[in-house]
Amino acid sequence: MACPSMNELPSKRLFIKTFGCQMNVYDSERMTDLLTPLGYRLTDNPAEADLAVLNTCHIRDKAAEKVYSELGRLRRFKDDRNQAGESMVIAVAGCVAQAEGMEIQRRQPAVDLILGPQAYHRLPELIARVHRATGRLVAADFEAEAKFDALPQVRNVKGVTAFVTVQEGCDRFCTFCVVPYTRGAEFSRSADAIEGEVRALAARGVREITLLGQNVNAWRGAGADGLAGLVRRLARVEGVERLRYTTSHPADMSEDLIAAHAEVEALMPYLHLPVQAGSNVILRAMNRAHTRESYLRIIERLRSVRPDIALSGDFIVGFPGETDADFEATLSLIREVSYASAFSFKYSPRPGTPAAALPRQVDEATKSARLRMLQELLNAQQAAFNGAAVGRVLPVLVERPGREPGQMIGRSPYLQAVHFDAAADRAGSMVSVTIEAAHANSLAGRVVESA
Ligand code: 5AD
Ligand code: SF4
Repeated sequence: MACPSMNELPSKRLFIKTFGCQMNVYDSERMTDLLTPLGYRLTDNPAEADLAVLNTCHIRDKAAEKVYSELGRLRRFKDDRNQAGESMVIAVAGCVAQAEGMEIQRRQPAVDLILGPQAYHRLPELIARVHRATGRLVAADFEAEAKFDALPQVRNVKGVTAFVTVQEGCDRFCTFCVVPYTRGAEFSRSADAIEGEVRALAARGVREITLLGQNVNAWRGAGADGLAGLVRRLARVEGVERLRYTTSHPADMSEDLIAAHAEVEALMPYLHLPVQAGSNVILRAMNRAHTRESYLRIIERLRSVRPDIALSGDFIVGFPGETDADFEATLSLIREVSYASAFSFKYSPRPGTPAAALPRQVDEATKSARLRMLQELLNAQQAAFNGAAVGRVLPVLVERPGREPGQMIGRSPYLQAVHFDAAADRAGSMVSVTIEAAHANSLAGRVVESA
């Protein structure tokens, strides 16, 4: 699908009226800067505004009353636009918003958004939420970002492993991420629909299923109690030997899901649980809804019920404002957790996301240097994790022929690729493999017996 580049964005009109002090004038400029990448252009005419913001002042009672009379005027423009099939979002920012909060909406129900001075950076998120609530989409406002938001599309239905999408969209609004805008609100398929698909795949010989979702552990579909309930239900399907799920958010990691890792035999001891950064200052600026400590507690809980669980993560270096000390906190978190595998990225400003408009962007050379250090540490951990498998006997699901004649490839419970000699007709069966060698991205071994 062709997507509009930023220059071709459909232009929308932004009306901002500023009351009061110099501070408010500055804040109005910042809000304008935040909204420009979303395609908003300033207008002096409130009648044509797609978004009208009153940046208010509370210094005197009269100033607040002026706001209410201005809101009455905007309400009439909004009604006119609604009748013409158009829309207008009305936002109240500034000190009246801070002081009176929801009281404003009670007095003037046409107001969609109230934002205190601490919330300006979340304006794109808040506007997206209003559009979601009213059923209007803003998805087209953003560049498609194949790198970060694409779910694997290839369904390897001829093989013995398959992906099943159970959830789409994201309600988390990390400030660096386009997914909540491009993919929209969280949506969960029903457990019946998912189980039907899983049964059909199992009947075709699929033995391992990976449940997919942008925020998969926030799954809340009908017919099962959360992702843990869904996993328990799918584990009972005849032929399904292994289950995995990805990608999860730490704040949606329920105690029940953690328990499932101990209780459900088919649920593999591997979890991709992105943390992004190790500094609480940065996590807060990312709007991640978890702290370093709460993340580490989850890891501790997981390891207490499933000591061998392999952990994987996503990391971003060079988020705006990241200091050497913040980056060091990410390294120390990685040392504390010890990952089996990981994905790491230099922060890249996505137009229209709040973080792109933050001050103190980190220069490219610093980002590159930090990424190198981070990856060196993660690669060493992955090598250590793979090395520790040497001498062990691991159950491997045989998937497909390898590059060498007579060689087959499968995966360990920890998602490591394993090479070994076996007949091609073993695909789909479980074998026990003695691991003899570890490489950077795979293991090699010998089949000892059929598991
Ligand atoms: N810059 C860098 N990395 C990003 N990711 C998402 N958005 C950005 C961005 N703007 C990374 C996150 C996420 C993974 C899928 O992509 O680490 O977990
Ligand atoms: Fe993006 Fe994941 Fe954050 Fe959702 S939880 S906003 S998909 S990084």
